Amino acid sequence: MRQKIVAGNWKMNKNLEEAKELIKGIKKEVKNGLAEDTRVIIAPSFVNLNYATKKTKKSAVEVAAQNMHQATGGAFTGEVSADMLKKIGVDIVILGHSERREYFGETDELLAEKVNTAVANNLEVIFCFGELLEDRKSGNHFAVVESQVKKALFHLKNEDFKNIVLAYEPVWAIGTGETATPEQAQEMHAFVRELFVNVYGNETANAISILYGGSVKPANAEEIFSKPDVDGGLIGGAALKTEDFVAIIKSI
Ligand code: 13P
Repeated sequence: MRQKIVAGNWKMNKNLEEAKELIKGIKKEVKNGLAEDTRVIIAPSFVNLNYATKKTKKSAVEVAAQNMHQATGGAFTGEVSADMLKKIGVDIVILGHSERREYFGETDELLAEKVNTAVANNLEVIFCFGELLEDRKSGNHFAVVESQVKKALFHLKNEDFKNIVLAYEPVWAIGTGETATPEQAQEMHAFVRELFVNVYGNETANAISILYGGSVKPANAEEIFSKPDVDGGLIGGAALKTEDFVAIIKSI
């Protein structure tokens, strides 16, 4: 059985007070435990990670960072290393988000380095990829996704994928209110899984969780999650409200 995952990417939202409130609400709702093989992850901003790991220690809620630098340390003003994350109890990092690619110039090559650093430091990676609207309109979406996934991940060894989760986030669906249809999500997830079958074999391909992200809401979550190759969601806006996030968790 593949793990089912609902992860909330808080982006640059929630100060400490607001984070406290949201964490409290989520913890309360998941305190009765989750189904086996189901995980709930939250990704607050760096400054609130320490608080979040302490507060969720005894709960089923896990904590991820939204980014990480590829170097182990040194003169990189403003950056955060894998070791710093691990030492405060963060074992998961989101890499390759389209906002990092677009606004911070993160390339596939850089992301391959970040992935290597995460793997070397035993951090689980939620690796994001997805096409732009123009790629989909021109019918290039499969080629774009194939290239993103291969360049950042396909140098890894089979066993490394135990610590990798994939997240398909079509850029045109992020924060736009426009969701990929469940069929579009399924089609891309199956395509990506097939890439893994071809290079890493069935066992690895069938074990890797592929999340969908892009305007997932309580109203559409269940239908999207019902698709066979959709193993959960990476949630932005709807992860910022306890009741919406909890409703999405309940849809998995
Ligand atoms: P929205 O759910 O706000 O569209 O954001 C999705 C996302 O980018 C999660 O990483």
